[in-house]
Amino acid sequence: MHPDHITINDVGPRDGLQNQPKLLSKDQRLSLISALVDAKVPEIEVGAFVSPKAVPAMAGTDELFADLAASLKNNSSLFSALIPNMKGFELAMSAKVPLMSLVVATSNTMNLKNIRMTTHDSVSVSKDVLKAAKKQGANVQAYVATAWACPFEGKISADSVFSITEQLLQAGASSIVIADTIGAANPLEVNQLMEAMASRFDLSQLSCHFHDTRAMGLANVYAAISAGVRRFDASIAGLGGCPFAPGASGNVATEDVVMMVQQMGFSTGIDMALLVKAADLAIELTGSASGGNAKPWIENYYLNESA
Ligand code: COA
Ligand code: ZN
Repeated sequence: MHPDHITINDVGPRDGLQNQPKLLSKDQRLSLISALVDAKVPEIEVGAFVSPKAVPAMAGTDELFADLAASLKNNSSLFSALIPNMKGFELAMSAKVPLMSLVVATSNTMNLKNIRMTTHDSVSVSKDVLKAAKKQGANVQAYVATAWACPFEGKISADSVFSITEQLLQAGASSIVIADTIGAANPLEVNQLMEAMASRFDLSQLSCHFHDTRAMGLANVYAAISAGVRRFDASIAGLGGCPFAPGASGNVATEDVVMMVQQMGFSTGIDMALLVKAADLAIELTGSASGGNAKPWIENYYLNESA
């Protein structure tokens, strides 16, 4: 393995905050995003254009984008938002969202619970959105959720992941994020699926999203790196979880992933000291985020040594 560059997308402000018992105010959400921008996190998932009845924590994402545009004029982070359907796309277009993320779960049960559509209908709606995006010059990627296992339907076949990926890339998705929504995958399965994906699709268009439900988050990141993946979702202080997927706990913590890959010789462009500050803020704001496992070590040794 030749260590090069790894791109981190922090999904804490969306995947993290959507599942918190405590609803943050728009200013609190903005302060968390600003802390991630200060730490030079290259990509940040800011929010979601979904029904505020379904996910109250994501209400006001349009205002958040307006405030970000006004307050963070010269930042270099790429901001994204989740969109489940055409209405979400239209709302995201009005809010001038630079990168939109569709989401299609591999199983009908998960997809119906999450966005009230079968997988087939969700692929078809996603294709319509991608067509509209092409016409209007929008950048849209897509998540393949529950890519290894579904909390309702169990193991998922690799063929369904290939098929959804192929259809969405052909329809114009800029990348595909393979997501272990409930943290059910193990490193061997991750490596096998991502190697198979790499032989079929362009690796530069693939990314992975892991939850640390069973303490395999970092091992899964490593397994995907070994298959050639270089873009990962992670969540500051390990916030995260899907309200519609029973058993899903937080995403793998950004500070843990950054520490691991930097020690392996990869560059991320992220400022570790400021990343720890962002993690402290996430813990303070939510009152429930645990923080990554690496945080005490980063504070006691890494930052002292490199100071
Ligand atoms: N954003 C905001 N509101 C939306 C919307 C969107 N993207 N899509 C639909 N709506 C609104 C409709 O306007 C309608 O509003 P009304 O009741 O005031 O008339 C209402 O939601 C129902 O519309 P419908 O098209 O029938 O949607 P639905 O009830 O089938 O719900 C979703 C579909 C996708 C909107 C809903 O299931 C949802 O928001 N899910 C959340 C998904 C999510 O964030 N999951 C977490 C992580 S993947
Ligand atoms: Zn997730």
